[in-house]
Formats: sequence, C-alpha cells, structure tokens
Amino acid sequence: MNRRHFISILGAFTVLGISGDYLYNKFFANGPGKYIFGNEAVRNVKNSFDELLGDDNVKYLRQIVTADNQGTRRITWQSASPLPSPKIEYRSAKKSTESYIANTEDISFNDGDVSIVQYTALLEGLNTDTEYEFRIISESGNSEWHKLQTAPDKGDFKMIIFPDSQSSDYSDFEKVAQGAWERNSDAKLFTVMGDLVDNGQDHSQWRAWFNALDGIIGNIAFAPVMGNHETYDLNWQTRLPAAYLGYFQHPDNGSEKYNQYYYSFDYGDVHFSVLNTQDYELGDFADTLVSEQKNWLRRDMNATKKKWKIVLMHRDVLMYAFGPQSGRSGRPEGFDDDGVNYMPLFDELGIDIVFTAHLHTYRNRGHIYNFDHSSKGPLYILTGVAGNVRYPHLWKDHALDIATLPQPETDNYLTMEVTDKKLTVKCFLPDGTQMDEASVTK
Ligand SMILES: [Fe+2]
Repeated sequence: MNRRHFISILGAFTVLGISGDYLYNKFFANGPGKYIFGNEAVRNVKNSFDELLGDDNVKYLRQIVTADNQGTRRITWQSASPLPSPKIEYRSAKKSTESYIANTEDISFNDGDVSIVQYTALLEGLNTDTEYEFRIISESGNSEWHKLQTAPDKGDFKMIIFPDSQSSDYSDFEKVAQGAWERNSDAKLFTVMGDLVDNGQDHSQWRAWFNALDGIIGNIAFAPVMGNHETYDLNWQTRLPAAYLGYFQHPDNGSEKYNQYYYSFDYGDVHFSVLNTQDYELGDFADTLVSEQKNWLRRDMNATKKKWKIVLMHRDVLMYAFGPQSGRSGRPEGFDDDGVNYMPLFDELGIDIVFTAHLHTYRNRGHIYNFDHSSKGPLYILTGVAGNVRYPHLWKDHALDIATLPQPETDNYLTMEVTDKKLTVKCFLPDGTQMDEASVTK
C-alpha cells in the first residue's frame, strides 16, 4: 500500500474531519500489518475525542422501503437540534473491515408552529440478502450501530402487517406492536395500513406513534401507507398531508403531481403496489389521482417480473351496512367506490392479495373475481384495528365475508409468510393467539 493508494480511498475518513496526514502518520507510517483502513481504525480515532450522540440527536430512527430493497435502503431520523455535517456510516455486519459513507439531506420542515429537524440518506450499492450495520456520524459524535438487512432476490421472508393504529392513547398500539415484534423478530419488513395517527397535524401523536414502534421501525424496513386521518389538520379540516409527507419518503413513482402519494417496491419475489385512497379528502388537488393511479398500476404491475403481486390500500373495497346493534342505518351493503374503481383492474392484473383497512374490523373475504367469490381472483383481507379506536357492533357481516373476529373486536395484527410456492396470512390477537389463516398458492 503506497501513499497514493492510501489517499485515493480516504474519502470515508475525510468526512469525519480527520486529515489524511493524521491517519497516514498515525497508522500506516507506523508499519504495515496493523489495522489501517478498517473500521477499527475509524472507531479508535473517533472514540478518542468524540462523545456518543445522545438520544435527542437521533430520535425516531426509521428504515423506509425503497423501490429495490436488495440494493438500497432509506434511513431517516429526527434530531432535537441541527447536527453538524451528519452522515451515515455503514458496513457489512460479517465482514466489517470496510465501511462506507452516505451523505444525508436536511429534510427539516415546519408544520404550523411545530418545527421538525430531520435528515434522510439513501444507502446505495448494498449487496442482496446481506446483513449490514449503520450508524449516524457527525462532528459532534456517533450514534450506536444499528442492524440493516437487505432483501433477497427470491426466498422466504416474513412481514408484519398492522391495521389502523390511530388512537387517543397509543399504549394499546405499543402493546400490539411490541408483542407482534417479540413473537416475530424474524420479520424483515412491516407496514401500518394507513390512519397511523388520529390527527395528521398533531405531532404529539406522531411522537407517541414513533415511540410505540421503538426498536422495530429502526431495525426493519417500513412500508408506509397513507390514510384519511393523515390529511386532517388540528381543526379537523382536510389538507394536504404535510406531516406524513415530511416524515416518510416514498420511492419515486414518476408522477409529476402525485409523486409521494402512491408507490411500489419489491421485497424478495413480491412486488407491492401501495395505492392512495384519499381522493375524497385531497379534494380538487386529487382531481386526476384515480385515473392516473389506475394507469400507473397497470404499467407498474405489468412491468414486474416478481412472482407475487400484492396491493396495500387504506380504504376497503366493500361497502358494509350498519349492524342491527349500531343504532345506525341508511348504508346499503355492496362495493365501495374504491372497489368499483380498482377490483376489475386487480382481476385483470392477476393480483394475489389485496390488503385494506379503514373500517376497524378484521374480515377475510377469500378470493373475489368479477365482484363475486371465485378462486381466480385476489384474496381480499380487511386487516382490522391496531389502535384503540374501536367500532363495536358497527358493521353487519357482508355476504362476501368468510371470517371475522369475535365481536366486539379488540386489536389484532397479521403476519404474511412468503415462500416460493405459498403466501400465508395469519391474524392474531394482541396476546399472540392465532384467530384466522388464509393462503395463496401458485
Ligand atoms: Fe381511515
């Protein structure tokens, strides 16, 4: 190793504010055969004059899905105050002799009188199906190392699916989420099916929501789904969902107008399309959302070479009549506008599973094709409720329902296990009791 070669691979060190001469003289000049370019050197140097970044500097750390989860991952976090030159250092968990540096983008935003300081970085060039470690580094210190696992090209994996988490008190959601994670710590990604919070502009709710997912959202990939409650402001009027769009960075969908409103991603041999069903709340802004999204979905699903095709969408496809004990009436059973709009397209595109939410009840409707039960169509799962906003006895069973949970319903969560030949969806109560199972084979 000569000095020129040393300088050429020094990029990672320079961002740490450590001069090449310093490193060269301290390590290489002392003689070959010692740790020089590995992270051991970085750690030894850094820890000699840096403090560990405190919790306030790295809050609500999240891993967000990217279009290609085999080679990239998005990392976003908040900080109590601006950080000097933050970067992300990452390395293979098994072969930690080299580390890489990703630049970050300051994506701080104001929402009313709330200011959110936050940063994001896209880690690129990762190897498929590989364990990594990453940490946040800045001139005022480093965070601890966190795990990151890239997706396989094919192969088995497990996903956790949480229904609506909107709450007046997020402790129930925390119990559901942490219990699900404890029992499924082998899961590689998770989603919350929209209505993450009750009020999209109430940042105290966002803090409670992030806290409920502590230890989960920073460790495995999160696939966000926008719900109608993300569009509500503090006066319960609808608005563009500024907080949701600030907190989560979706993969680019190529849309000029609705770029962060719907998206798709691959994980293993599954292609997921995440639709936006907030065209009503988004008002005039969304005048072309449904037509654009339908065209996009056709292109998006037809372009994928993945074996399995899954749709995540907040609003359900069926229309439920009010139950006899609800004290309400005037709502006929049938199909929701989103069902009328999208179900024929799901039939056409050969979608395997459609996960929905919004109605705060779990319903397994089996496979539906051309608006009726048929093994030719997608499996439709209305995912239930994971927060404390429950609607006891509100809905009458739909003619297409195959299974629901004991009434009045408490919270639930789901898992989806993906193998080469089978998708298996299981529904659990918060204590881990399995209540339902459905599968798709191909
Ligand atoms: Fe909703």
